[in-house]
Amino acid sequence: MTPPRKQAPRRTAVLRREAVVTTVLVAVAALLAAAGPAAAGTTGSTGAGDPYFPLAGNGGYHVAHYDLTLRYDPHSRHLDGTAVLTARATQRLTRFDLDFKGLKVTGLTVDHVKADYRRDGQELVVTPRTALRKGQEFRVTVTYNGTPKQVTDPDGSPDGWIPTDDGAFVAGEPQGAMTWFPANNHPEDKSSYDFTITVPEGRTAIANGAYLGKRTAHGRTTFRWRQPEPMAAYLATASVGKFKVEQYTTSAGIKVYNAVDPREATAAAPVLKKLPSVLEWERKLFGPCPFRAAGSIVDHAPNVGYALETQGRPLYDSAPDLSTLVHENAHQWFGDSVSLARWKDIWLSEGFATYAEWLYSEQHGGRSAQKTFDALYARPGSDDLWAFPPGNPGSGAHIFGTPVYARGAMTLHELRRAVGDPAFFRILRAWAAGHHDGHGTTAQFLALAERESGKDLGGLFHTWLYGAGKPSRS
Ligand code: ARG
Ligand code: ZN
Repeated sequence: MTPPRKQAPRRTAVLRREAVVTTVLVAVAALLAAAGPAAAGTTGSTGAGDPYFPLAGNGGYHVAHYDLTLRYDPHSRHLDGTAVLTARATQRLTRFDLDFKGLKVTGLTVDHVKADYRRDGQELVVTPRTALRKGQEFRVTVTYNGTPKQVTDPDGSPDGWIPTDDGAFVAGEPQGAMTWFPANNHPEDKSSYDFTITVPEGRTAIANGAYLGKRTAHGRTTFRWRQPEPMAAYLATASVGKFKVEQYTTSAGIKVYNAVDPREATAAAPVLKKLPSVLEWERKLFGPCPFRAAGSIVDHAPNVGYALETQGRPLYDSAPDLSTLVHENAHQWFGDSVSLARWKDIWLSEGFATYAEWLYSEQHGGRSAQKTFDALYARPGSDDLWAFPPGNPGSGAHIFGTPVYARGAMTLHELRRAVGDPAFFRILRAWAAGHHDGHGTTAQFLALAERESGKDLGGLFHTWLYGAGKPSRS
């Protein structure tokens, strides 16, 4: 299937209306965020410095590990949580922020000593009893509870802890993590995770990484999960529902855990059966699987409207088609293992995952990538596809727009035509290998592509990523 993803038109309609307002708010908030650290010196900043989401993430520390203990009752929609963050101060800190929205905080300690805190929108502002030294490792424990409230993204999509009729669809791109745990909520900060999730017996709670087992007592079942490789907060999940579970190990030694809502089982079965071969195909093309765990969470969540590449185990709002399966799993290399440093670079995630769909089709008897490119290129200059350049979407309202997915993929196709197949696939593998468990920027990708191909690619990137309107063909 070709981009845009299935719900893109709905999102695109919303984004045009909100773009102007968002841009102004973003500009104001960016100024405020920038003023924060300069004004105080020893207080962590309220944001990671991302102009698209100025309050996302926080300055002054890095979180190495999250240990999340949750208990959810789908009936009352009540969530109880304890989050233990192991972090390191990157500067002296008399005060720092976490991102946390909605839920009530009932206790907060820093290194086991009660700390002062206050809420300010999505910022949970923490003042430890004694200042943290630069380089000091510290532990923040937050206990909280309440009914999580999803956020609405600038594109109109629900994001965060989204209740379903039998549990919750838990996704967080780009902002929603803060609706269910206190986080340094920007992909710039990646961390390992442990999850302990208790739900009523008969429900299943699925998070990221390895499944460590479950225990049932007094009508409740506790599921344990561990995500050892670093993960951005937006890729965390703790989805709950009535699921059929299937587990196996692939020939490459990857542990697969599939959870499927019975209502989606018939439609999902033939697609999920292809997961091992899709992962194997992606491994050959992109290099070793970045994570030891894989699988799928196929929920029945008609109110959501998108799938998410939750780390190790993508989350689908309904039975996915094959190209969506290819797309979300390609993200494990591009977007999850190689993270964005800034949301502006979103094409490095969505453009790559979309191009993986084109390549899959081409190599499995379907339409060639060239044909897909040509069909898109035939769209008139007035089409939404050319509304903004993918390398500079302009605001958070545009990061999931058609140009990011489709013209992002077209950029890769033009790169492939310019350098030839051997260099192109070398570039993809070198990108995944060189930045795995880390970050990559557009400038770094361009530099790598030039190095691997020996070609000057500045013009091509400029035209396809940054040029306004429909690019003319050279
Ligand atoms: N990254 C998801 C994908 O691969 C899309 C997430 C959309 N999220 C949103 N808040 N609009 O398609
Ligand atoms: Zn995607």
